[in-house]
Amino acid sequence: MLEEPRIFKDEQVLNPEYLPEFLPHREHQIERIAKNLFPASRGRPVQNMFIIGPPGIGKTVSVRFVFRQFEEFSERIKTIYINTWNYNTSVAVLAKIVLDLGLFVQRRGLSKDEIMERLIEALKKCNKGLIICLDEVDQLVKKDENALYDLLRLNQYVDNPIGLVMISNYPDIFVNIEPRIKSSLNIEELEFKPYTIQEMKDILTERCKYAFRPGSLEEGVILLCANHAINKGGDVRIGLECLRKAAKICEEENSDKIKTEYVKRILKETGPVKLKIMHGQLGGVEKNIVELLSKEEPITSTDLHEKYVKIFGDISQFALTKHVKHLEDIGIVRVKESRRETRGRKWFISLIKRKVFK
Ligand SMILES: Nc1ncnc2c1ncn2[C@@H]1O[C@H](COP(=O)(O)OP(=O)(O)OP(=O)(O)O)[C@@H](O)[C@H]1O
Ligand SMILES: [Mg+2]
Repeated sequence: MLEEPRIFKDEQVLNPEYLPEFLPHREHQIERIAKNLFPASRGRPVQNMFIIGPPGIGKTVSVRFVFRQFEEFSERIKTIYINTWNYNTSVAVLAKIVLDLGLFVQRRGLSKDEIMERLIEALKKCNKGLIICLDEVDQLVKKDENALYDLLRLNQYVDNPIGLVMISNYPDIFVNIEPRIKSSLNIEELEFKPYTIQEMKDILTERCKYAFRPGSLEEGVILLCANHAINKGGDVRIGLECLRKAAKICEEENSDKIKTEYVKRILKETGPVKLKIMHGQLGGVEKNIVELLSKEEPITSTDLHEKYVKIFGDISQFALTKHVKHLEDIGIVRVKESRRETRGRKWFISLIKRKVFK
């Protein structure tokens, strides 16, 4: 017979995707976001936003929180969340919006103008303010900055207010974009600052209240997890993972309390998660490059190209370099110039923090 789970009330609450009912220490940011976007529900123009800050400090969850609020309480706003890791061209983004607005659209075979027409048709029909979150927007800016322009120019064709909330870890991504796009973006920047240890503790305490039955945690467990998350860069996901892993040991040992000793056992193996997530999102050529580099010492660009072609098939050196440059930009690989070479320049490419990818 299966035993009743003893410590958990709702294990899901510790899942990083879970959207809590309350987000401690992000009240001001949530209010700011809501204030800027809310005019959409009155048919008035929206203040576009650019949210920046390091990984795991509540940027995405705060926007999702506001979106949930809007969807629940306002009939006149439609919110659409897009992670541009997965939708990194204008066509992909526009097609996703059309689909989310409830119209069918084929992504392949249709030109951008055709999809744009479908979108305008969809917007005219729904007569709601549209708020689009472009998360990890650096991906889109790098791959296809015109996507932003296409979204911004929608305003010329429809009366619906259209607002953009963009999120990134990198503050400088708009520095080099085309002036016509920059000037029409008109963004308000909102910086999220890392949590202090006390704030991290409050956040984990709040999650634990809904995840575990009362009395399931030994004194000091949350502080240990919070402290570890702060030491490893401040990502709340690390704290949540510590709690999940400690809870697992607790179950294995058939104990009815999570002890600090369990947490101490798993601290070493619990570290930064963002790179792992990013790696999971890579596709095609970039995934192959990372796989190849994970088996190599630093390698020259020529050797990398040669090996790549041998293992994965033909690609031009130029195209490969572009992908390597992108991986460098997002902090996955390092490209270093060799000082020893006297004739010509040589570039050595290697993975950053290789062990994260295991
Ligand atoms: N104030 C908070 N209250 C409750 N949970 C939080 C809070 N801040 C962050 N979290 C949780 O931490 C995890 C990471 O948050 P989120 O995904 O918003 O990070 P992020 O800032 O978008 O990071 P990244 O830049 O890596 O995308 C999520 O599980 C989220 O629910
Ligand atoms: Mg995020």
